[in-house]
Amino acid sequence: MTDTTTATANIGVVGLAVMGSNLARNLASREGNTVAIYNRSYGRTQELLDEHPEAGFVASKTVEDFAASLSKPRTALIMVKAGAGTDAVIDQLVSVFEPGDIIIDGGNALFTDTIRREKAVRETGINFVGAGISGGEEGALLGPSIMPGGSAEAWETIGPILKSIAAVAEGEPCVTHVGTDGAGHFVKMIHNGIEYADMQLIAEAYDLIRHGTGKTPAEIADIFAEWNSGELESYLIEITSEVLRQTDAKTGKPLVDVILDQAGAKGTGAWTVQTALDLGIPVSGIAEAVFARSLSSKPEQRAAASGLPGPKPTPVADTDAFVEDVRLALYASKIIAYSQGFDEIVAGAAEYNWDIHKGDIAKIWRGGCIIRAQFLNRITEAYAADPGLVALVTAPYFTDAVARAQDSWRRVVAAAAASGIPSPAFSSSLAYYDGLRSKRLPAALVQGQRDFFGAHNYQRVDLPGTFHTLWSGDRTEIDASDAH
Ligand code: 6PG
Repeated sequence: MTDTTTATANIGVVGLAVMGSNLARNLASREGNTVAIYNRSYGRTQELLDEHPEAGFVASKTVEDFAASLSKPRTALIMVKAGAGTDAVIDQLVSVFEPGDIIIDGGNALFTDTIRREKAVRETGINFVGAGISGGEEGALLGPSIMPGGSAEAWETIGPILKSIAAVAEGEPCVTHVGTDGAGHFVKMIHNGIEYADMQLIAEAYDLIRHGTGKTPAEIADIFAEWNSGELESYLIEITSEVLRQTDAKTGKPLVDVILDQAGAKGTGAWTVQTALDLGIPVSGIAEAVFARSLSSKPEQRAAASGLPGPKPTPVADTDAFVEDVRLALYASKIIAYSQGFDEIVAGAAEYNWDIHKGDIAKIWRGGCIIRAQFLNRITEAYAADPGLVALVTAPYFTDAVARAQDSWRRVVAAAAASGIPSPAFSSSLAYYDGLRSKRLPAALVQGQRDFFGAHNYQRVDLPGTFHTLWSGDRTEIDASDAH
């Protein structure tokens, strides 16, 4: 083991499970980095040292030695399971670090926890950076997309290090200083919400094609592979094709047919929706994706309801035309999911005073992360052309794309309803689109109802002020502008 009393490492990693060890190896592989490592149990540290002598890790058995092995300002990246464990590691590091040092939390922390931690750590003079890191195990090793928050001072030190390990898209590293305190984890949360929507939409597309056309998973894998060479090109479409092509060695059946159909979730999708509810932002595509996972994971209810009546399935008349309709419906619904996700970023930035550049977020999602897609270039272009864009779906490229897709989208949602195939994300995205483009919504009636039972008042389309109808009196309208 290297002598840990000399400060030879410019960056350290705490927590050496898969993500932590892959990030440590990624860091070590880049010119100019010497990486210190520390794990709660030394056994795992030793394993990593044995497996990867080429990394030249500086290993420590104690957190004191770990701190001593880092050059100043000391920079440590925490990669432990988000939650109470993160607080414990932060406390440990704070006890051995000094003002000016930097602690980065690279886990999937809830952004409000990051705001709290940043505030508490800042009081010690130490910088705390919550950084969203996306890309799974492979991304961590070869180049993730990184979304750091925290202070501008910390970014000056960690920026070059993070740029050295991030994925590169169109010649640019997939990392940017997102904003202060919890901004990085907030944007990572939205990334995950969009990831949920994207995955659910793809799953619905698969299900519709399978039930509608009777194609096998392997045949549908070919369709996804083909889609991956067009405007839908993305990591999630690519891996979908691979999952659908996989045969189960035990039974010889398609693997997708032997996997239990109950989707898990670690919580980031639910956080995106909970936060959106607080901010008043309709992220219906993401919400349906979260709820679809919840519904799938209710085996007792599903068993009890499995005999309930449904329509007689109608086989599609023209298979190729239907598959193309599903492709276009998927693209349109995906545009809505991103548009809603970016709306939440805008609202979060306003609420928490973050100067988030939407175009930069689209840029750093172009490579490394789970939602990486060709499509992100179009989002980058849309925000470059109009940084104040009020809704992504109103940018010319996306308006055209939806115009091109909408007949297909409507046919697919109608076919799904007629055949009783659940397509919550497809149909709610279409309903959102129709709601958004409506010149007049039945919200007027809702206002009337609210005024009737609760004297909640309403505004008129033709006069300024606030009004109330005396519903239980003579039903004349009064000016309620001065009422509470
Ligand atoms: C990523 C992923 C990663 C992980 C999430 C989602 O960006 O690399 O989003 O963070 O896959 O934990 O997991 P769940 O689907 O279990 O919520």
